[in-house]
Amino acid sequence: EKIALAYSGGLDTSVMIKWLAEKYDAEIVAVTGNLGQQKEIENLEEKALKTGASNFYFLDLRKEFVNHYIWPALKANALYEGIYPLATALGRPLLAKTLVEVALQEGCTAVAHGCTGKGNDQVRFEVTFGTLAPELKVLAPLREWEFKSREEEIAYAQQHSIPVKATKDNPYSIDENLWGTSIECGVLENPMNEPPEDAYTRTVSPEKAPDTPYVFDIEFQQGVPIGLNNERLDGVDIIERLNQVGSEHGVGRIDLVENRLVGIKSREIYEAPAATILHFAHRELERLTLEKTVFQYKQNISNEYANLIYNGVWFSPLRSALDAFINETQKPVTGMVRLKIYKGNVILLGRQSPYSLYNEHLATYTSDDTFNHQAAEGFIHIYGLGLKTFSQTLEKKVPK
Ligand code: ARG
Ligand code: SIN
Repeated sequence: EKIALAYSGGLDTSVMIKWLAEKYDAEIVAVTGNLGQQKEIENLEEKALKTGASNFYFLDLRKEFVNHYIWPALKANALYEGIYPLATALGRPLLAKTLVEVALQEGCTAVAHGCTGKGNDQVRFEVTFGTLAPELKVLAPLREWEFKSREEEIAYAQQHSIPVKATKDNPYSIDENLWGTSIECGVLENPMNEPPEDAYTRTVSPEKAPDTPYVFDIEFQQGVPIGLNNERLDGVDIIERLNQVGSEHGVGRIDLVENRLVGIKSREIYEAPAATILHFAHRELERLTLEKTVFQYKQNISNEYANLIYNGVWFSPLRSALDAFINETQKPVTGMVRLKIYKGNVILLGRQSPYSLYNEHLATYTSDDTFNHQAAEGFIHIYGLGLKTFSQTLEKKVPK
């Protein structure tokens, strides 16, 4: 038997290589995707092979992640429960798809992952496996293996000479990629506890951020960021640069009690500097360029889109259909937004677009005004007619 494993190099998936190989008498193909995580990715191959994998794949997925996952989510303004930019949730379907591709190419009969039995990630992985390759068996060792604690896993690792880092245990569970970092566990499990400074991995606290603000421009074309400060840049570069300056200025720290798909409320800390800045800028450009009813209707779509990402149904006809709507709305979302970041805040300075619907002659209170004030009287008369009729007639007759 041959099993493809979504491998991160951490304790769980390291122990898993050996455990799966023994339990299923199988060859293990370890697969790691680069989604822009900052965590050490050197020596991963050596480590995987030393641990007993027969083959190791390291795939750079950053461009695909940005162009086909992050940008659609940004165009949708997809923020789960209005707040979480969905970094982990967007990464899972891409990792799952990549794992399936390697599994089929390598002639594997099963795929395996290192998610727990009470999280969202297992659902995202397994729904994607089932959609893309229903013939593959799915193994989730964390749901069934005998280890009850980290200590037991470490003991197993030592028995089997699996290299695990001897450094002091990080008390947090961390998942990170280009779009953001998700941090949970430890003292964070009490939602009244202020997150200690050491829970944060990539941002400085607003208090420690520079006293001088940073002012910059972001350019968009049809809803997609295409450059910064008049310089055309690739999507990965834009996100990396905004993560850099955002982190320095304490931007993008999020503390959220959220509703998991599996019925649990969980307290999660996120660090998402680029995502926070880009979502803010994108929405401001839409305020300028989208026709009123499209702008307002799209808010419902944003919520729907965020839910489908969070709930693990990225590969679905619903997403294709929503993408068609969203892409249609993005045609005029071209232009520039000028921002200032300062001690954790993102502040809007200005916005412009060749497709701006803002009409100064209509909006102004000066003598340049072209708005027809007389027309307002008739408009209000008819607009309020229904309510007036109601209060003058029915309201008095209907029993209280
Ligand atoms: N709660 C977030 C989500 O469902 C983050 C999950 C983080 N995963 C992790 N392995 N730490 O998308
Ligand atoms: C996990 O179970 O691996 C992390 C938590 C989650 O998926 O929500």
